[in-house]
Amino acid sequence: MNKKALITGITGQDGAYLARFLLNKGNYEVHGVKRRSSSFNTARIDDLINDQDVYENKLFLHFGDMTDSISLNKIVGDVEPDEIYNLAAQSHVQVSFETPEYTANADAIGTLRLLEAIRQMDLVQKTKFYQASTSEMFGNAPYPQSELTPFAPNSPYATSKLFAYWITKNYRDAYGIFASNGILFNHESPLRGETFVTRKIVRGLVALSRGEKKTILLGNLDAKRDWGDAEEFVELMWQILQLDQPTDLVIATGKSFSVRDFINMVAHTLKIKLKWSGIGLEEAAFLVDGTQAIKVSSAYFRPLEVNHLVGDSTLAQQMLVWKPQKTIEELIQKMVDHEISNSISFRN
Ligand code: NAP
Ligand code: GDD
Repeated sequence: MNKKALITGITGQDGAYLARFLLNKGNYEVHGVKRRSSSFNTARIDDLINDQDVYENKLFLHFGDMTDSISLNKIVGDVEPDEIYNLAAQSHVQVSFETPEYTANADAIGTLRLLEAIRQMDLVQKTKFYQASTSEMFGNAPYPQSELTPFAPNSPYATSKLFAYWITKNYRDAYGIFASNGILFNHESPLRGETFVTRKIVRGLVALSRGEKKTILLGNLDAKRDWGDAEEFVELMWQILQLDQPTDLVIATGKSFSVRDFINMVAHTLKIKLKWSGIGLEEAAFLVDGTQAIKVSSAYFRPLEVNHLVGDSTLAQQMLVWKPQKTIEELIQKMVDHEISNSISFRN
């Protein structure tokens, strides 16, 4: 029997991988919500849109916005999905300090709007709901962070996502909706947005390796993150909705590296020698020919920082019969290979 999945955020990194994963399963009709934009905004799924066997046959796109109940109610009512994956969000932590109200509207109230749409369209018994929760909700709580770690959100983004986490749990407990939170730690890929630190570093160092003399401006190099593979993690979103009972699970590799470590690993992959000097705002890295590769800039520091995220995903490993697969070196190689075959020049 064919199942219908609705993905909000289908044009984003995870949405693009999840759409592919579900379409490849063969028994899914995939519906995605995309925003109206003055220019094309579907680059990550254009191959699917250009495939006549797929687009408007197994894959359907609907205009909508997380800040607009009317569009969300209509889409949920028209599609009557078996599964909703709520991946849409203003997902940039630093940007959330600049646009806190919008971030709360889209990320917090947007999630409530979708859950209410399930109720109002009488789909409580039918539609399963996956919420894209985040390790950012832990803020600077003691690590490694697990399902039992107290939340301590440190940004408007994290605070909004915490509301979404709790409202998902509330609708599960109050109305019996099969609603689950995947608490995912950072996950990266060649489709990662260009302003997130991993993609920015890979793009910048690949450009330098091609002889472009553009310095990469970065903020806090000491922050540590648990970086997993996006393609691997989206499969776990699906698995979470296939469990017998709805639940909340941490998904992470259990290993963390600093931003500086990540730079050095990418440089090593590209066989670039970096010479580091200075500390704090004076810290910098140079190529052997003297070109400044990395410069620390106060513009990329956040009003509050999350210092160290590293997840304990023991429970998910048991329940989903999964073990983290991709190493950070493999992930970096994949990102570097993609950037090398892509000749777009770097900008900060
Ligand atoms: P992403 O690449 O930034 O994609 C976000 C998606 O949400 C895009 O499709 C974007 O549309 C859409 N969107 C943003 N605001 C919207 C609005 N108001 N209405 C409708 N759509 C909207 O994010 P991602 O990395 O794929 O992450 C997916 C989800 O997981 C997000 O909710 C994120 O917060 C969460 N998460 C991510 C990570 C991670 O490390 N990647 C970890 C934990 C949780 P446009 O393409 O039009 O901008
Ligand atoms: N973006 C960015 N740009 N981050 C920088 C830079 C820079 O120039 N310089 C240093 N950093 C540091 C940030 O301060 C942060 O500590 C770390 O690099 C990672 O930043 P991001 O790549 O922007 O990711 P994030 O950890 O803040 O948020 C991502 O992961 C969350 C899960 O933990 C996003 O994908 C969120 O949506 C997600 O919830």
